[in-house]
Amino acid sequence: MSLDIAATVAQMTLEEKAALCTGASSWTTTPIDRLGVPALLVTDGPHGIRRVPDTGSLGATALPATCFPTASAMAATWNVDLIHAVGQALAEEANSMGIGVVLGPGVNMKRSPRCGRNFEYYAEDPYLAGEMAVALINGVQSKGVGTSLKHYAANNQETRRFTINAVVDERTLHEIYLPAFEAAVKRARPWTVMCSYNKINGTYGSEHRQLLTEILKQDWGFEGFVVSDWGAVRDRVKALAGGLDLEMPGPKPSRVQAVIDAVHNGELDEAALDEAVRRILRIVDKAAATPKGAEFDVDAHHALARRVAAEAIVLLKNDGVLPLQQPQRIAVIGRSAKEPHFQGGGSSHINPTRVDSPFDELQKLAGDAQLTYSEGYPAGLETDQALIDAAVQAAKAADVALLYIALPGSIESEGYDRDNLDLTEQQVALIKAVCAAQPHSVVILNSGSAVVMNEWIDGAAAVLQAWMMGQAGGGAIAGVLFGAVNPSGKLTETFPLRLVDTPSHLSFPGGHGEVRYGEDIFIGYRYYDAREVPVLFPFGHGLSYTQFAYSNLRASATTFKDADGLTVSVDVTNTGAVAGQEIVQIYVHDHAAELVRPPKELKGFAKVALQPGETKTVQIALDFRAFAYYHPGYHRWITEDGDFDILAGASASDIRDKITVTLQSTLELPSLLNRESTLGDWMADPTGRTIIEPVRQEIVGGMMRRMGGGEGDEESGAIGMDVLGFLRETPLLSILHFQEGALPQSPEEIVDGLLAQVQGG
Ligand code: BGC
Repeated sequence: MSLDIAATVAQMTLEEKAALCTGASSWTTTPIDRLGVPALLVTDGPHGIRRVPDTGSLGATALPATCFPTASAMAATWNVDLIHAVGQALAEEANSMGIGVVLGPGVNMKRSPRCGRNFEYYAEDPYLAGEMAVALINGVQSKGVGTSLKHYAANNQETRRFTINAVVDERTLHEIYLPAFEAAVKRARPWTVMCSYNKINGTYGSEHRQLLTEILKQDWGFEGFVVSDWGAVRDRVKALAGGLDLEMPGPKPSRVQAVIDAVHNGELDEAALDEAVRRILRIVDKAAATPKGAEFDVDAHHALARRVAAEAIVLLKNDGVLPLQQPQRIAVIGRSAKEPHFQGGGSSHINPTRVDSPFDELQKLAGDAQLTYSEGYPAGLETDQALIDAAVQAAKAADVALLYIALPGSIESEGYDRDNLDLTEQQVALIKAVCAAQPHSVVILNSGSAVVMNEWIDGAAAVLQAWMMGQAGGGAIAGVLFGAVNPSGKLTETFPLRLVDTPSHLSFPGGHGEVRYGEDIFIGYRYYDAREVPVLFPFGHGLSYTQFAYSNLRASATTFKDADGLTVSVDVTNTGAVAGQEIVQIYVHDHAAELVRPPKELKGFAKVALQPGETKTVQIALDFRAFAYYHPGYHRWITEDGDFDILAGASASDIRDKITVTLQSTLELPSLLNRESTLGDWMADPTGRTIIEPVRQEIVGGMMRRMGGGEGDEESGAIGMDVLGFLRETPLLSILHFQEGALPQSPEEIVDGLLAQVQGG
């Protein structure tokens, strides 16, 4: 560190402070030469470096950089060490281009497979997304380059992304949409956080004081600066006051002036500006401390991109055709075999250092086999029967057909959402025709998120999900097809049978400027589990060329305190004939809770490599949060005494072992009883129950008399109902109001008196 931050702030003029809080260009902050404050260069992110020349154009061609598999592929590896290595490689490339902060990763949830930007996001599960982000950020920042965790928060669709109002209840926000940010901030300390464009419950992300200041900075202890998404600021002064430190892009003289004026006229406290300035200076200084310009190893990074792509591939289905057994004639079908679709559209679009051709890579591993190529489908949405006919002929003449099917590039992009989850009409017709002609047909899919497959999956002998696989994905696919790589990826999002089955279907992408997260906490597998909706492939699913057996699931204690947590262990054995890697998933199921909870939630995982016959013990620590849920009454995460199942699974639908443990909550929570609390609430509250007990008989008895029941006749009344059941659902205050004349005090006085006793303990 070379800057004395406090001294620098003290020497800065108001004009300089305001200028520092607004970008100088598309990608740089404002330098202050007289005080030795350099400019900070930032650039996209997140799966490669998109360093565009500072021409003022946001869309100029970038310098060549390695295009790694995009986030949805990275997450499908479930390999945090590998993602850490990608982070380091990203930092090396950023460094070579003089970059201080990489704009990524994105940890928004895959609320709907329709989100156009899902390829840039990790998962439908907040725990998993958080683990991936922690790994990537730690990797990047271990090399002295910063990150920008984005897009904070509830930016889960592209439709009207600049203005849409995401209406999310408090519990859902904390339980589903914030935890990945929280984990990353607390455990990886990203240098910057990028706010989202959208509104959250009526307030723009850029002005959201509760999110930016109270939760992010105060509760989670975020020490870096908050940067706006590019163009996300509406009211610069409100944004600064809310906790948005840096507005990008610049230059924007009107914004600088607005800040100066606001301080002059007392609308903005200069202390708030100073705080933003300090935060920005700290990161500018940190970035400057890393020497820049070291060249990166282009070949090594390409090899890393290939390894990630290989581990990301998910073998969805296999009737035994894979790995290929020395076929002599291979029909390669589909234009993406020659023109790979390996990344998505928008700000993350990389200018790759090179791109491997899937066809050429196949040829390299195919030995003497003869490969033919048929285009199969046009680049866009058109149909062309002649292409299908040619592909069918080729497939018939071969031992095996490999169908390379990529969603057209225009379908999945930043900036808009998908209309459906379908492949193109031509692709569906092609797959059906080829599978009918050639029983050994393998479908290889490139998409950033789920597609539906009902129309053709039964005919396919095997299906590989290869995602947006990055520049080296072609070789990765070849490796898996020929068995040089044993597939070990698993889905981080459910593949539904139909779009109409998806949890957010009726409220995605909303309308009239608003999207209501109507499915609440029931996103992804949480919903399919709870509603028992059948799916095409469940969360966590992925096959291997070997098999794994799970045994001896055990916990460090059967009864434990929430604060202590637990360690669970399970033995995993490779029972097949080849080496492989298994992703062991630990889910937690709460037997009973005051509020509804998903049937199970992912709380730990491990990827383990096993030789044939080998057994390893996987250990996973489960902490307080593994058992807690967010209670909107207490405005915090809580635990309750009770039993929990610990489930060890190969996917969310393939649970291999289960044990039950008992949690003792150490929380001392305040009572939530109030004037609206029902008799049932009073009876369920441990303190309330004791306090009300002496008067309960009298209150209930009085009410029975009013309702025409006999003395002590609690179970049935003259009006054909279970009166006690009725009273359980009636506020105590209302019960007393029915008896007002007979009471020594007003009902309010009585209830307030009881409440005072509850508060007093
Ligand atoms: C995107 C961000 C990106 C920024 C800069 C925005 O439109 O939402 O993810 O980092 O542009 O390119």
